[in-house]
Amino acid sequence: MHKLEIGIAGTGYYVPAKVLTNADLEQMVDTSDEWIRERTGIRERRIAAPDEPVSEMAVRAARSALLSAGVRPEELDVIILATFTADRPLPAGACLLQEKLGNTRAGSFDISAACCGFIYGLEVAHKLLTGGRYRTALLVAAEKLSSVTDWEDRNTCVLFGDGAGAVVIKKGHPHGRIIDCYIGSDGSKADLLSIPAGGSARPITHRAIDEKQQFVKMAGREVFKLAVNEMLNAARMVLKRNNYDTSDISWLIPHQANLRIIRAAARGLNLPMGKVFVNLDRYGNISGATIPVALAEMDQAGLLKRGDLVMMVAFGGGLTWSASLVEW
Ligand code: ACO
Repeated sequence: MHKLEIGIAGTGYYVPAKVLTNADLEQMVDTSDEWIRERTGIRERRIAAPDEPVSEMAVRAARSALLSAGVRPEELDVIILATFTADRPLPAGACLLQEKLGNTRAGSFDISAACCGFIYGLEVAHKLLTGGRYRTALLVAAEKLSSVTDWEDRNTCVLFGDGAGAVVIKKGHPHGRIIDCYIGSDGSKADLLSIPAGGSARPITHRAIDEKQQFVKMAGREVFKLAVNEMLNAARMVLKRNNYDTSDISWLIPHQANLRIIRAAARGLNLPMGKVFVNLDRYGNISGATIPVALAEMDQAGLLKRGDLVMMVAFGGGLTWSASLVEW
């Protein structure tokens, strides 16, 4: 292992205690457990408490990752938080996370790339550490989607959940090597998945709230059609430019939005579902947090072996897409 290589040194995750089942949702909107399971693969999701903002979930995931990496908070040079549901618009959620961790010097900033936030963050952390000024980074993806969900809209409210996943990334770490990341986006399709109000184009007003413009709107069917193709393109691109084949993949960790999308991606890469990690049934779609939560669960369960080739791939609002290869 080259001393300049960049590796994932620790993983951690946190999901809130409250479980919202499909049966619970049947009491809230015109839906059924059967529809949700068949069309999405989701059985239940976690919902954060009112006094549990993103920074609170993020700090719990971060502490767990720091512990598993054997890194103290003050050793962090960079703190990146991937989220679009930070505690407040200003300051960055990463600064609130930094304060909770007790770190007083790291450069801390947020990344807004929706479901691709973790892999976008991995690319940024990888390149910062490659550059030579920074040695240790914390990357957390955390989302409180319940705070931007319209609980009367059955098209979206059955899909989302809350939670946080984290990794500590170190220069010169002997394993968990980040081989490559690829990120892409197409802003012309921004309106397919967005929160219309709350930004400078449409600040929160009584009218915006009356029109429920502060909530996530998604053209699910259109997003679905694009998701599989772009995820496959991203995964194939990263494999090809690093001289790997789909048969080299030990584990696929796809973004957890819909089991039908995950199955189609696995089929496209010729991978049996036994090589694909799925936790969507338990957590729903936690946006950027789905992949690091999955990675941490796999790590804690001892599923990842030294030398395993792990492919992570995501697709989401932006529209964005991304893939990353890590040699565990
Ligand atoms: N319960 C019962 N019926 C429902 C529900 C529900 N919860 N939701 C929708 N339906 C109905 C619709 O009204 C529609 O009825 P109609 O035919 O009478 O009009 C019917 O079910 C089919 O609706 P579709 O939208 O075509 O359903 P589809 O099979 O596409 O599934 C879903 C919808 C689950 C949203 C799917 O399209 C999907 O997963 N899309 C991709 C999501 C995604 O990947 N997002 C990106 C990441 S998210 C992020 O970045 C934050």
